[in-house]
Amino acid sequence: MAGLLRFRFYFLLIFSATCLNLVHGRCLPKNQHVALFIFGYSLFDPGNNNYFNTFVRANYWPYGEQFFKYSTGRFTDGRIIPDFIAEYANLPLIPPYLQSINHQFTYGVNFASGAAGALAETNQGFVKDLKTQLSYFKDAEKLMRQKVGDAEAKTLFSKAVYLISIGANDYVSPFTVNSTFYHTFSKQEYVKMVIGNLTDTIKEIYKKGGRKFGLFNMGTLGCIPTMKALVPGNTGACFEEATELGKLHNAALSEALQELEIKLVGLKLAKHDFNMSTSERLNNPQKYSFKEVNIGCCGSGPYRGIFSCGGKRGGAEFELCSNPSDYWYFDSSHISEKTQKLLAELIWSGSPNITGPYNLKQLFEA
Ligand SMILES: *[C@@H]1O[C@H](CO)[C@@H](O)[C@H](O)[C@H]1NC(C)=O
Ligand SMILES: *[C@@H]1O[C@H](CO)[C@@H](O)[C@H](O)[C@H]1NC(C)=O
Ligand SMILES: *[C@@H]1O[C@H](CO)[C@@H](O)[C@H](O)[C@H]1NC(C)=O
Ligand SMILES: *[C@@H]1O[C@H](CO)[C@@H](O)[C@H](O)[C@H]1NC(C)=O
Repeated sequence: MAGLLRFRFYFLLIFSATCLNLVHGRCLPKNQHVALFIFGYSLFDPGNNNYFNTFVRANYWPYGEQFFKYSTGRFTDGRIIPDFIAEYANLPLIPPYLQSINHQFTYGVNFASGAAGALAETNQGFVKDLKTQLSYFKDAEKLMRQKVGDAEAKTLFSKAVYLISIGANDYVSPFTVNSTFYHTFSKQEYVKMVIGNLTDTIKEIYKKGGRKFGLFNMGTLGCIPTMKALVPGNTGACFEEATELGKLHNAALSEALQELEIKLVGLKLAKHDFNMSTSERLNNPQKYSFKEVNIGCCGSGPYRGIFSCGGKRGGAEFELCSNPSDYWYFDSSHISEKTQKLLAELIWSGSPNITGPYNLKQLFEA
């Protein structure tokens, strides 16, 4: 028995020492992996906001409790969609770009920043907006070329998958509703700018070799607790202005992406329909074993729609539910880990009517 254990020990030692690419306890052939680069806002932020001065953070209890047992800066009780995608793709957790200056980009890196928008004006001063995230990506690409040479870097960036989820904050940030910038434009003009900045980003990544993109439309924005709480009298109704902007955005996005698919040769898109995936589940909560889809698990005020979870921003008072996985929303505006996982599965392997023309699994295999 002891001999067998010793044998196993030495075997593992030799095995790990010779494995150049040990991921989740499995040895994968070197350079066989596809890297994952992530852009966006809080839905995808693994903790970038911890590394610069902002009040938009989630690096304190009870964020992260369900999975990490400490708060990483993720705006939920556990893992976020990119964590699940990385797991399904046999990649390690993709780290926040701002975490370290000693970068290793071979598995990819995450640039997403909580509260960021596609427009520089959205939550300006508190976030790293899409353009800043793109400039980080360009720095990373340059560094990689210096490190491994043009040819290997080109292979890495052209095989990589790029996830971009952006735009919600341009429409639903409580600051947006009253901002003078927003009111300078018609809704159509405003949406056009958001889409223009998103497609510009895709084009820039394409120029650096990127071909495979995971992209997302908007769900019913007006129904998130923080938006519902803006409706006078808190009647239970959704905040129509936000939903309206979401509809305009989705129509314009769909058109813009169709154009890109024609213009950019070799482009492969996984377009996930958040509107469809979320409305089907929000309308049938029992079927997906949710007990509460209207109120956040953690927060205060109507629908727990005030961003007070953790008690770090002014008022220390907040309420916390006992079982976050009964809830669709973890806090005033962020979905729970259970919801994140459910959506990640649909993004990874959903049928073309929900994630298409490719799903992420196919993009990683392509
Ligand atoms: C917007 O401004 C109105 C009028 O000043 C105010 O009542 C409302 O609370 C503000 N909304 C937000 C989200 O700040
Ligand atoms: C990007 O957003 C800015 C405002 O931040 C706007 O002036 C510009 O026109 C937008 N770009 C496109 C291509 O729409
Ligand atoms: C979501 O889909 C429904 C059904 O197709 C549609 O009526 C609604 O306008 C869509 N909402 C958004 C925000 O795109
Ligand atoms: C999407 O396609 C799948 C498989 O073809 C089907 O089972 C499902 O009902 C479709 N969903 C919707 C909302 O159309």
